[in-house]
Amino acid sequence: MPEGLNGARRNKSEDDITAEVLARFSETPDLRLREIMLSLIKHLHGFVKEVRLTEAEWFQAIEILTEAGKMCSDKRQEFILFSDTLGVSMVVDLLDHRKPDGATESTVFGPFHRLGAPEMPPGGNIAHRDGTGTPTLVSGRVLDLDGKPIAGAVLDVWQAQTNGLYDSQDKDADALHMRGKFRTDSEGRYLIRTVVPVNYPIPSDGPVGRMLKATGRHPWRPAHIHFVVSAEGYEPVTTHIFDHTDPYLQSDAVFAVKDSLICDFARHEAPGADAKRLGIAGPYCTAEFDFRLVPATDAKATVMDAQQRQAALGARA
Ligand code: BEZ
Ligand code: FE
Repeated sequence: MPEGLNGARRNKSEDDITAEVLARFSETPDLRLREIMLSLIKHLHGFVKEVRLTEAEWFQAIEILTEAGKMCSDKRQEFILFSDTLGVSMVVDLLDHRKPDGATESTVFGPFHRLGAPEMPPGGNIAHRDGTGTPTLVSGRVLDLDGKPIAGAVLDVWQAQTNGLYDSQDKDADALHMRGKFRTDSEGRYLIRTVVPVNYPIPSDGPVGRMLKATGRHPWRPAHIHFVVSAEGYEPVTTHIFDHTDPYLQSDAVFAVKDSLICDFARHEAPGADAKRLGIAGPYCTAEFDFRLVPATDAKATVMDAQQRQAALGARA
């Protein structure tokens, strides 16, 4: 690096600046933070140099990030939406939640989980205010990797309404709807009453929506139901089940579809035993899905559970 008469650096090239910034971070005491910062600088500077970012483009990026920040609240997380639509959330998911064969795969958490979902009995209806969707029974078991049932596992479930909105996006945003917590019985079984999930567009009225539009991408997610399944002694899994007929399975706006999570929502014209018992008269659907959990190692260190996320983002129930 060239030095002036008084020892000050001069005529620095862009690579000199990168080297100097790297040097300043190279003494970071925390080794993991050091690794992250050095790599971040390398990639960030590399990106700016590769695309030859103009000052106007740099400022546009600042404006976009500022707008994203201003949009964030306990009901809206534009930064998670950026991470999801850029595919970053799914890369992190794959790196941090690699599962052994046979275990239920995880997928994005998304921004619409809420604390305080009501505990429901088997067959409890999470869609009690949804008058238009086709009644649906989702059932199955929670098992360990040897196929042994896990009794007392908790399934925290959430889903968009038939109008394509989550409760927090709808008129009465404070009222919880399409959410519930179910517990497995002694045979590891669960039974959830809901409506057939619908595909819906992710929120597109902010900078993420403009990015999708400007890049020719659609905002749609294939129909799905969200789950966090947890049990004492096992690693919780954050996942979805997807409707196998959905046209957006191949082009999910947030890249979250995994083959093992695609499921059949079978239509029936006449009620079966469970449907009769639960008072479902007309046509309805059933979906069956077994969750397989991995024994806990040091789950606390690796799994950011819903509670922690919500607390960190300043959420309320
Ligand atoms: C969701 O499925 O709720 C979701 C996930 C990622 C981004 C937006 C929505
Ligand atoms: Fe969703």
